[in-house]
Amino acid sequence: MSKKKIAVLVGSLRKESVNRKLANELVKLAPESLELEIVEIGQLAHYNEDLDENPPAEWVEFREKIGAADGYLFVTPEYNRTFSGVIKNALDVASRPYGQSKWGGKPGAIVSSSVSGLGGEGANLALRQPMVFLNIYMMQQPEAYVANSWELFDEQNNLKSDDTRAFLQNWVNAFAEWVYKF
Ligand SMILES: Cc1cc2nc3c(=O)[nH]c(=O)nc-3n(C[C@H](O)[C@H](O)[C@H](O)COP(=O)(O)O)c2cc1C
Repeated sequence: MSKKKIAVLVGSLRKESVNRKLANELVKLAPESLELEIVEIGQLAHYNEDLDENPPAEWVEFREKIGAADGYLFVTPEYNRTFSGVIKNALDVASRPYGQSKWGGKPGAIVSSSVSGLGGEGANLALRQPMVFLNIYMMQQPEAYVANSWELFDEQNNLKSDDTRAFLQNWVNAFAEWVYKF
């Protein structure tokens, strides 16, 4: 069985981002059938239709990577009760020029995390809204809301909790099953 390529988008740009650490953990835990690769989004200029007359090289490269992926995994923090702006910009960049969206017709899923006990639920649910128009087939269950995120990793970036690892393993296995439905 050939591996399915999953583009992983991380919604926080900070160096010690827990969402990036979670994404790295998911890369490690993913079953053989999936190849998870983090695709960087922090370098993308803010979407501006004028720039599409001669699109920046980083847009072109990003759009190619999104078009080549078999599915998408979004790992997002919650910023002011919704998902982060860098994710919205990435969605917009690969959705244009009009009629040439790279997103549609593929499976996707979301992991949200937050320093609070709510696990970024507001971000997770809000990010499902643009997926309707972008036509990304989102996994509904199991959901992944990772709470109290700043306590999860030690100073060497090792995940401390076996329960969280087991949860993430179960979740990424379910995502692999979801991806292979398409
Ligand atoms: C601009 C901003 C807004 C935030 N808003 C929320 C929020 O609405 N809900 C929440 O639970 N945490 C909120 N936080 C805290 C984030 O959950 C926390 O900073 C988290 O660690 C960010 O993810 P990261 O570790 O991957 O950078 C906010 C943080 C920032 C910087």
